Amino acid sequence: MASTSMDGGHWRLVSDITAKRKPPALQVVFYRGVKMRADPYRNCAPLYDFVIGPLNVVLKRVRMKLAPPIQGMKVLDVGCGTGAALELYSQAGCDVYGVDISRAMLKVARKKFGDSADLRLCDAAQIPFQEKFFDLVLSTYTLHEIPYEKRSAVILEMIRVVKENGRLLLSDFRPGPYHFPEGWISRAIIIILELMAGLEHFNNGRDFLRRGGLQELIEPYHLIIEKINTVRGGSIAFFLLSTC
Ligand SMILES: C[S@@+](CC[C@H](N)C(=O)[O-])C[C@H]1O[C@@H](n2cnc3c(N)ncnc32)[C@H](O)[C@@H]1O
Repeated sequence: MASTSMDGGHWRLVSDITAKRKPPALQVVFYRGVKMRADPYRNCAPLYDFVIGPLNVVLKRVRMKLAPPIQGMKVLDVGCGTGAALELYSQAGCDVYGVDISRAMLKVARKKFGDSADLRLCDAAQIPFQEKFFDLVLSTYTLHEIPYEKRSAVILEMIRVVKENGRLLLSDFRPGPYHFPEGWISRAIIIILELMAGLEHFNNGRDFLRRGGLQELIEPYHLIIEKINTVRGGSIAFFLLSTC
């Protein structure tokens, strides 16, 4: 058995033999007793901002329009990755928080923010913050990669931690129709990037779209849709939501 300690928790490889035989993304590890895949972002995390960052400029602009920062507000990013979505909120004087399951992505985010952000390594299905704590809960490109069985638990956690007068701002891939040519080109780029991320990742994304994307995912929770915005020819959707 191999074991390492991390953030007060414990990663444990099931066996070194398993680790050698299986491709890295399929390694099975346990974190605080929860079964998880090994970190699929561990090789690409240092490059993530350079490759994906330029593609996401438009997302930052829309995010600032839909949920502008107000000094002192508490903002949580679920699946924060390298923390790209939190940067402008932090600069505007918000208290910023992030949760992510990837140690490699959080390492990049921690370099960026130092002590100015509270970044936690955890599964978004168990967000380690008290209920009604955040003014704004963001999530970008995360829900599509979460397996179907866990997606509802993640949404319920977001609803649990947002204040009654707070907002959720979810953005992710959209099932279409797409505008030609921008939406088609964007969709093609997304498919290539998803395939590069591995078959499991790709299949979760396909399942997310087949089930109707964000629109269908949020449907059972009676959230109030305040605004829907689409970008990149309709291939990406933003949902600004409130709980009451
Ligand atoms: C495509 S990246 C997007 C990162 C960031 N939101 C952005 O827009 O740049 C998806 C992120 O979701 C995280 N993630 C996936 N499943 C998760 C889970 N169950 N709990 C927490 N984070 C998760 C991944 O580790 C990864 O950092």
